[in-house]
Amino acid sequence: GHVFTYDPGFTSTASCDSTITYIDGDEGVLLHRGYPIDQLASQSHYLEVCYLLMYGELPTAAQLEAFETTITRHTMIHEQMHNFFRGFRRDAHPMATMVGVVGAMSAFYHDSTDVNDQKQREIAAHRLIAKMPTIAAMAYKYSIGQPFVYPRNDLDYAANFLHMCFSVPAEKYNVDPILARAMDRIFTLHADHEQNASTSTVRLASSSGANPFACIAAGIACLWGPAHGGANQACLEMLKEIGTVDRIPEFIARAKDKNDPFRLMGFGHRVYKNMDPRATVMKESADEVLELLGVENNPLLQVAKELEHIALNDPYFIEKKLFPNVDFYSGIILEAMGFPTSMFTPIFALSRTVGWISQWKEQFADPQMKIGRPRQLYLGSTYRDYVDVENR
Ligand code: CMC
Repeated sequence: GHVFTYDPGFTSTASCDSTITYIDGDEGVLLHRGYPIDQLASQSHYLEVCYLLMYGELPTAAQLEAFETTITRHTMIHEQMHNFFRGFRRDAHPMATMVGVVGAMSAFYHDSTDVNDQKQREIAAHRLIAKMPTIAAMAYKYSIGQPFVYPRNDLDYAANFLHMCFSVPAEKYNVDPILARAMDRIFTLHADHEQNASTSTVRLASSSGANPFACIAAGIACLWGPAHGGANQACLEMLKEIGTVDRIPEFIARAKDKNDPFRLMGFGHRVYKNMDPRATVMKESADEVLELLGVENNPLLQVAKELEHIALNDPYFIEKKLFPNVDFYSGIILEAMGFPTSMFTPIFALSRTVGWISQWKEQFADPQMKIGRPRQLYLGSTYRDYVDVENR
């Protein structure tokens, strides 16, 4: 009795209704619960935006304080999970470690895996938001052979993350407030983006009733790919490969060549066919950080600036509406801050956790919720009889 539509890549299929995030890709608009992203990025901060995404309204002062206390009290992970980290190869990509560790949380926190219990769902949501920076920082520390650094609950969310990534026991580490602010902004700008591939993955995983840690691990796995969250790492690697400004035209030519699979990483977006509003804010932030760190003369960043300029003025990119996206600029900031490229996608993952969790939470209130089950257009062989191996 159903009429099927054929929509590869889901370019025109809505899979749910939602009240969290609104995007108008043609106009370059992004609203969270109605509030525009540029106002949130400049006037609010990450944990307040987390509250907004999860609960639908901006918190009162008391609500915000209670929420921040809850999140900062759950930043440590079970000590036994350290062993789990240590089981990975020492050169493991932090995303690989995160997929494993977050999935394994379901084996550690049995009091928050029952999805039919609203209270347990709430605890799981808070745990994930609170512990994700710790997990990402530990994955990083492990990958470079430094000791794990415990979280500090007196620092704010972004400053604590920088502390866990960059401090070592041998030295006193002071978090620069400008860098903490830039970090917070990166988190805020990545917090949610409606039904993108990883969020749809989380919803699809959850539609079967899987526990929240398993669902978020699925989201992290999906985010990893270079067409999605992996683009920030791929973009910086591309800038390094280009190397010098004089080689840019060669790469632009390759991007235009139909017979070359090469794409300019950090350009283009499925939904934004105008400047990504997050990219506009991120670009300002990038300028601020580069000025602070005095890296305007970094050759890599010069390549980035020149590439941006050329692409924005090239007829191919104009016609196809390919603008630098948020990850073009976030990669530049993270590089300047001293993060290795392998940490770019984990940082995206920790920022997006609240979006995944908010969408996951919303799903339970949806009376239409049922298991997600796309159909297909079958193009294989018609009926045929089995042939014994000696007769093939
Ligand atoms: N460089 C060169 N050409 C491109 C690029 C690019 N980065 N992106 C798209 N095109 C071309 C593409 O070849 C196609 O040309 P034609 O119509 O002649 O075949 C046309 O533009 C449309 O591309 P598409 O692949 O059909 O568009 P899509 O909506 O499926 O892809 C995208 C969106 C983001 C996957 C793609 O633009 C891309 O691969 N960009 C590079 C990777 C990247 O930066 N991804 C991060 C996205 S933002 C962060 C996030 O949300 O995860």
